[in-house]
Amino acid sequence: MSAGVTQSLERLIEGWSGEAVVARFDRPTGTWIFIALHDTSLGPAVGGCRMKTYPSPQDGLRDAMRLAEGMTYKWAGIGFPFGGGKSVLAVPRPLTGDAREGLLRRFGRLLDTLRGTYVTGEDLGTTPEDMSIIAEETSYVHARPGELLDPGPYTALGVFAGIEAAVRAAGVNGGEIEGLRVLVQGVGDVGAPLARMLAKRGAEVLLADLDERRAAVLAEEIGATAVPADEVYATPCDVYAPCAVGATLNPGTAEELRCAIVAGSANNQLDSPRVADRLAQRGIVYVPDYIVNAGGATALPMVAEGADEDRIRERVLRVGDVVSEILARAAEGECTPAAAADARVRETLDAAAGGRVRLSVS
Ligand code: PHE
Repeated sequence: MSAGVTQSLERLIEGWSGEAVVARFDRPTGTWIFIALHDTSLGPAVGGCRMKTYPSPQDGLRDAMRLAEGMTYKWAGIGFPFGGGKSVLAVPRPLTGDAREGLLRRFGRLLDTLRGTYVTGEDLGTTPEDMSIIAEETSYVHARPGELLDPGPYTALGVFAGIEAAVRAAGVNGGEIEGLRVLVQGVGDVGAPLARMLAKRGAEVLLADLDERRAAVLAEEIGATAVPADEVYATPCDVYAPCAVGATLNPGTAEELRCAIVAGSANNQLDSPRVADRLAQRGIVYVPDYIVNAGGATALPMVAEGADEDRIRERVLRVGDVVSEILARAAEGECTPAAAADARVRETLDAAAGGRVRLSVS
């Protein structure tokens, strides 16, 4: 975490711009459960569930709050009628087996008592299997009992479309994917399918993961090059695709990066809004995270509505159109892409508040 001082839970809640926080301590596993509801002006809060070990419960709550805010922006960005929410299961250590299942079931029953105020889904640290366990306790989850639904490949497809759009807009590598040097950081649920897509289309793929074996195995499979995790920022590339934890764009890495474009799936990539300005000064195009990583959020409600696969993919690919629009707006308005995207979100939120738009899924 970047903030040096640990704030109390009370201070964090007092200082937050969101609507509400639901908190529970799960005694059997020693887990703090936080559900952060940021802004429900577009609809009920929907957002994934992160399971992670944090240095303190406060760090878990802060993450939930920042992630919930990101979801408000993500839903407004794609124009779906949902609000920003996110949950964090701040586990004291990695949980497996019965302990994990017990926690997920109790979390599912807690969601059920909220009666749809918040709907959950997969996020970093949770799996489609976890979601299908939660679905045995509540219907307020993007999953069904006994069925596995993985948003990762859809998120990856959206990031791919976003990279294509950004490369074209910035004129990098002649606007082509073939021969484009892309560094994918994190080869998990999104990074791995993204890397496969890029390699298939002839990009020169570089892979990094904290688990260096995992990066090496995938590199071998797709003909990519593994890069040590601590060399990610200084490695020259056309596109840096952060697909792991957030806050990798900070005052230090903003100086170190040797790429033309940043476009990846991680939520909350900017450690602070100022970093976006510094990247722009250095001539690096930062594609706002909540725009380029919206593929999974696009797909989940469409799957729930029974949309067919072709329609879902077509809608996810529109992430590329939104990226083009935002980069064009930034160029016209002489502002950063982050500022252009934020302005677009505010327009949507204001229009919804004023009753001037009716949003729907698809
Ligand atoms: N956690 C993923 C994301 O942040 C996928 C997801 C989207 C899960 C929406 C639930 C709801 O985009």
